[in-house]
Amino acid sequence: MNEHGDRAGVRELRSLAESAFTEANDLDALEAARVRFLGRKGELTGLLRSIGELPPEERPAFGDLVNDLKLEIQHSYEKRKAVLSAEIVEEDYCAGDPTLPGRRTIHGGLHVLHKVLREIKSIFFGMGYTLTEGPDVELDYYNFEALNFPLDHPSRDLQDTFYINRDILLRTQTSPVQVRYMEKHKPPLRIIVPGRVYRNETPDPSHASEFLQMEGLFVDKNVSLADLRNDVTFFARSFFGPDAKVRFRPHFFPFTEPSAEVDMTCFACRGSGCPICGRTGWLEIMGAGMVHPHVFRYAGYDPDAYTGFAFGMGIDRIAMLKYGIDDIRRLLGNDLRFLRQFWTETGGEAIE
Ligand code: PHE
Repeated sequence: MNEHGDRAGVRELRSLAESAFTEANDLDALEAARVRFLGRKGELTGLLRSIGELPPEERPAFGDLVNDLKLEIQHSYEKRKAVLSAEIVEEDYCAGDPTLPGRRTIHGGLHVLHKVLREIKSIFFGMGYTLTEGPDVELDYYNFEALNFPLDHPSRDLQDTFYINRDILLRTQTSPVQVRYMEKHKPPLRIIVPGRVYRNETPDPSHASEFLQMEGLFVDKNVSLADLRNDVTFFARSFFGPDAKVRFRPHFFPFTEPSAEVDMTCFACRGSGCPICGRTGWLEIMGAGMVHPHVFRYAGYDPDAYTGFAFGMGIDRIAMLKYGIDDIRRLLGNDLRFLRQFWTETGGEAIE
């Protein structure tokens, strides 16, 4: 082997390796080519071994040459490897259907009760009502006495009311906020009072031991039953649809006189009778009436100077009616599979 021949061998090996790498169409083929040229028993090692056959003075130069060659071959190997690996990434990407929608992130949504309450509130805000609240843990005085409940009234019974002691209880209705508010504000007033109420009832599909109510109270000079009817009808039409009709059925509440239960035409059958309305064509949506003069006296108002109306609706019941929910207990259940149905399509509604 002379110097000329060795240099030619080096050049030849470089182009052989380069074309072997280029011809390798996948990483396996490339690996085989790497082993052939750069492997421990490969061509380059062979070339290095042949150094012993050279005269000693030529060995250093030859060694440098082979080392340079090794670097070059390694470099072209790396380059080819990068190209083939990038193709694999691309192939993987193309194996999926790039037109498929991306993965959706799950946003929360409003609880159906919250959503219904929000809608109801905005209807009443539009009519000029303002919002106020009262305590869940209430005095017997506000929950019963100032609302003109006689001492022996059945709803004071331990069966219905969660008493904390003789004077303190969990409110059974939002009506106590009527008196609390009137004590602090002079008429005219127009308020709504949403809140949780508690009753010691055996839970069943239409009873829960806690639920939401919303009280309404309007006091001014010359407020009449016609005003009550107007506001309630406006609410029912805004919430359930423009052809909802409203009827008042005489009823009794100690704190209103006259009192009524308010029914609305069944939104499902529009009044002809169906299972939802028990074939009556009507659905009860609230209790209401004209504020009793005794209640005004408790609050420090002159019953000869002012009149007013009050109403109280069950938010759970209204949500159930609107969305066809058959069991009130689902509303407290926190079962996402149930709650999710009421989230808007896009999810991610802002929470108040
Ligand atoms: N507080 C009554 C109830 O819980 C509802 C009501 C409110 C009735 C206001 C009349 C006036 O049943």
